Amino acid sequence: MSADIVDQLTEDPYPNLPVERGPHGRGVGKWVPEEKHLYLTRYINATREAQKKFKQRVLIDPFGGPGRIQVEGENFTRDGGSVIAFRESCFSGAPFTKVLVGDLDESRARANEMRLAAIQAPAKHFVGPAVETVDAMAKAVPFGALALAYLDPYNLEYLSF
Ligand SMILES: C[S@@+](CC[C@H](N)C(=O)[O-])C[C@H]1O[C@@H](n2cnc3c(N)ncnc32)[C@H](O)[C@@H]1O
Repeated sequence: MSADIVDQLTEDPYPNLPVERGPHGRGVGKWVPEEKHLYLTRYINATREAQKKFKQRVLIDPFGGPGRIQVEGENFTRDGGSVIAFRESCFSGAPFTKVLVGDLDESRARANEMRLAAIQAPAKHFVGPAVETVDAMAKAVPFGALALAYLDPYNLEYLSF
C-alpha cells in the first residue's frame, strides 16, 4: 500500500489523553498532515526495500508529542507522526521493531507510547529534553539495527545536539 494514502482519520483509542495543538494551542497547521506527515510516510515507503534487509528497524522520535494531532479549524483529531510512521512501516512490509518516543512533557510521552501500543507497536517512551534523552534512545537501539530519526521540535534551536 502506498504511503500517500495512510488513513489519518482513525479513531483515537485514548480520547482523554493529550493532543498536539501546536505551541499556541489553537491547532497545528494543515501543512502538518498534508506535507510533514505525508513526506514522512513517503520516505518510509521509499526506503522499504533497504529496511527489509535489516532484522531490527528502529524509529527514534525525541520530540514525539502525544501521538495525536488536531488541525486548526477541525473538530476531530488525527494520528500523530510516530503513529503514522509505524502504520506506514507496516503497510510497506517492514514494520519498525522498536519505536522510541520522547518528550519534555511526561504525559505526552506516555500518551504516545499508549497510542502506539494500541496498534501493537513495540513502543518505549523517554521523558526529558531531547538533548538528554537522545543518549538513552541511542543506547536502546540494538547493535546492527537500521535506525530512522524523526526530529520534529517546535523550534530549530532545540536541535543543538
Ligand atoms: C511539533 S511537536 C511534536 C509533533 C509530533 N512529532 C508529530 O509529528 O505528531 C513538538 C513536541 O516537542 C516537545 N518538546 C518541546 N521542547 C522539547 C525538548 N527540549 N525536548 C523534547 N521535547 C520537547 C513538545 O512538548 C511537543 O510535544
